[in-house]
Amino acid sequence: MSEMQNIQWFPGHMTKTKRQIQSSLKLVDAVAEIIDARIPVSSRNPDINKIIQNKPRVILLNKCDMANQNATKKWIEHFKNEGITAIAVDCKSGYGLNRFAPSVNMVLSKRLENLKAKGMVNPTLRIMIVGIPNVGKSSFINRIAKQNRAKVEDRPGVTRGNQWYTIAKNLEMLDTPGVLWPKFDDKIVGEHLAFTGAVKDQILDTELLTVRLLDFLKELRPKDFIARFKLENTDLNEIDSYELLNIIGKKRGMLISGGEIDTERAAIMLLDEFRSAKLGRITIEMP
Ligand code: G4P
Repeated sequence: MSEMQNIQWFPGHMTKTKRQIQSSLKLVDAVAEIIDARIPVSSRNPDINKIIQNKPRVILLNKCDMANQNATKKWIEHFKNEGITAIAVDCKSGYGLNRFAPSVNMVLSKRLENLKAKGMVNPTLRIMIVGIPNVGKSSFINRIAKQNRAKVEDRPGVTRGNQWYTIAKNLEMLDTPGVLWPKFDDKIVGEHLAFTGAVKDQILDTELLTVRLLDFLKELRPKDFIARFKLENTDLNEIDSYELLNIIGKKRGMLISGGEIDTERAAIMLLDEFRSAKLGRITIEMP
């Protein structure tokens, strides 16, 4: 798990982070906001629009390898309707990353024209990455930096302490991402972040969390989930989720002495399997 998720957000820290991001924003032309394609609502910072203001932006729906493909398409359409360019990427395999630079160039086409009109020849455009912990910011930066060339050498005009990667012709990326906080005061957001493993299990009851996940799976009925636990003949509308957890535990032979079902172990297993997409490519939040 990413170290980043251990961050404890408190007001002073949030103010400091915001200030850091705002000072980095002065150095860039656009922002790439990384979110989790399975939970495009809960994996966003609630103040993102205020923080980045009117900077051109590209949204990266990361971990699309674990999200439902149709749902991801709908999200891309949804953002498009809001006037935001979004692309689906998977930083594990590198899928979709080739569309990144062209998308950035597209959202910056006006700016590019303006710079050229001012007489700049081949202006270099700069971007930065922002996102809440665990959405894949470091994975993205590592992938895209490796795929392209090494760091930009120190040179006049570039603030010391900021490192840049050249990631395409005339396109540079700041090497440190802006780490934003999620929405804390919403129970559903907390649950969805916990389903994906973006927040620590210790702060939530595992069985309770899994029962909530099962509430959701019962309704959605993902094919892989049904097949994996042979639930074809189980009337999912009729049983409550705790009962379902027991059925699943039993099917897996997870018993404690006395023949009782080890629901705690079953819950941990289910969460693990959900997080590694063994239950299928599942999107939790729809536009
Ligand atoms: P962060 O900087 O935003 O905090 O996120 P980070 O890159 O550390 O990624 C968090 C976790 O998500 C990592 O898993 C990473 O491998 C995984 N990840 C990032 N992008 C993708 C993606 O597109 N698809 C999938 N399937 N996973 C992705 P981890 O469990 O912390 O470590 P590990 O499994 O890499 O060892």
